[in-house]
Amino acid sequence: MNPARILPVIGVVLAALLVASLTVSSQEAEAEKTAVERGAYVVQAAGGCTCHMNPGLEAFSLSGGRPIKTPFGTIYGTNLTPDPDTGIGGWSDDDFMKAMREGIGPDGKVYYPVFPYTSFTKMTDQDVLDMKAYLDTLEPVNNANKEPEFGFPYSARSTISVWRGLHFDAERFEPDSEQTDDWNRGAYLSEALAHCGECHTPRTFMGATDEDMYYAGSVEGPEGELAPNITPDEATGVGSWSIPDMTWFLQTSFKPDGDDAQGLMGEIVTHGYQYLSDADLKAIAVYLASLEAIENEVTPP
Ligand code: HEC
Repeated sequence: MNPARILPVIGVVLAALLVASLTVSSQEAEAEKTAVERGAYVVQAAGGCTCHMNPGLEAFSLSGGRPIKTPFGTIYGTNLTPDPDTGIGGWSDDDFMKAMREGIGPDGKVYYPVFPYTSFTKMTDQDVLDMKAYLDTLEPVNNANKEPEFGFPYSARSTISVWRGLHFDAERFEPDSEQTDDWNRGAYLSEALAHCGECHTPRTFMGATDEDMYYAGSVEGPEGELAPNITPDEATGVGSWSIPDMTWFLQTSFKPDGDDAQGLMGEIVTHGYQYLSDADLKAIAVYLASLEAIENEVTPP
């Protein structure tokens, strides 16, 4: 055949191959992107994981080091970036699952429940894996984790094993078939991901959330901040807030009286909750409105 004829044919064949391979890789990228995108949303629903921010860097990075004051001492958020030496770069999916839902690290170390695995244990497999897919795309930062500064007996990790035996059950969220889809979605978001109760439920002297006072406010939440009563009690809680009021608050941190939330609450709205869909925020509001109203005036000590 005349070479002048062959060349265009080769060109067309190559172009076709190129288009085919691009289509395949863009399909793969699409599948990958979906897990990563879903994971980004899961992180936002968890409030942006801001306890893991790195105070030494100007740009927001989940590479850890942030000190968190608790009644037991100061603990430092760990490095969640995929750095192989100091972050979670070397972790398998199973390692991550175990950390999130059982509170046990790849090296067998048990975590202090300041890391709210007591809530994350309720997460679905899919949400945990998507979260990891997203974290794996973060810029790796080398920043070694710091040991907590806890006094005895809390400094001994064996104390946590005792605590876990008493206060921790690794179990998934169970939807309630008597309730609406909205309610169930709101319950899942609040209990498993957004972990509202970790701050808004007061703790017993053992540091466990006091389930009789579910969401009824805590005088000494993380960082010593007062987390108000968010049960629908008229006098001491948020009973006067409508569903749109609560949705708006979670989106903007503005309360019905025009005041805005500060501290940790402001932070997790900014880095997390505000990005959730209207439907998801409304679902959280519906769930909150259904809680038992508990009269509990939370005032600074
Ligand atoms: C990391 C701790 C933390 C988590 C998690 C958290 N909150 Fe808060 N929340 C606070 C603190 C602290 C305040 C008080 C902010 C202030 O004083 O400005 C607050 C304030 C609020 C208020 C204002 C109440 C009032 O009467 O002024 C509402 C409503 C609220 N949170 C709802 C929620 C919901 C719903 C969730 C879960 C979706 C949640 N919070 C998760 C710590 C937290």
